[in-house]
Amino acid sequence: MRIAVLMGSPNADGSTALLARSFVKGAEEKGHECEVLNVCEMDVRPCKGCLRCGYEGPCSIHDDGDRIRSAILSSDMLVFASPLYYFGFSAQMKAAIDRFCSYNSSIHQKGLRSCLLTVAWNSDDWTFDSIVSHYRTLVRYLGLRDEGMVLGAGCGTPDMTRGSRYPREAYELGRSLRSETTCRQ
Ligand SMILES: Cc1cc2nc3c(=O)[nH]c(=O)nc-3n(C[C@H](O)[C@H](O)[C@H](O)COP(=O)(O)O)c2cc1C
Repeated sequence: MRIAVLMGSPNADGSTALLARSFVKGAEEKGHECEVLNVCEMDVRPCKGCLRCGYEGPCSIHDDGDRIRSAILSSDMLVFASPLYYFGFSAQMKAAIDRFCSYNSSIHQKGLRSCLLTVAWNSDDWTFDSIVSHYRTLVRYLGLRDEGMVLGAGCGTPDMTRGSRYPREAYELGRSLRSETTCRQ
């Protein structure tokens, strides 16, 4: 199946990227085709709330949001890879998510599979409560089918992350994906 990976860390060689690369390696070994969209290197402006799209239609902002839209709508799975920023998604990832506004119904109709890959400095047991709650709400609202989460606690630097179990978990998650394409077109 085709997998769109939204990479929401400004550090191209940071901890989020480590998890995203590990996931992609596992998924590709199983024959899946991954497209990594580094939303921090793309021009993705925040939704203006103009609602000219009517929640499903052309967006009035012409930027790389169009590329993200076509990548997601031609995929079977959507991966949210983000560092934890103040207990939520990075602003760049949130901007990309808000732009779903103009193709909300299309995403819902596809029944995409999804997963969450995230890293944080902290390792308290409540570290990921907010982002997990947000992710689960997106799954519910957008009609996604959750395939799993990798919650990288204590991953404050790339070295900490490399020494942790989480790159392996991300790799195993990628490898665990079944190959049939079950997404509604
Ligand atoms: C703006 C900012 C906000 C952060 N907020 C949190 C946070 O709320 N909780 C936490 O545990 N770590 C937080 N961190 C630490 C990062 O999540 C952590 O360093 C992560 O490894 C960064 O991933 P990256 O290498 O992909 O940039 C924050 C870092 C930054 C720069």
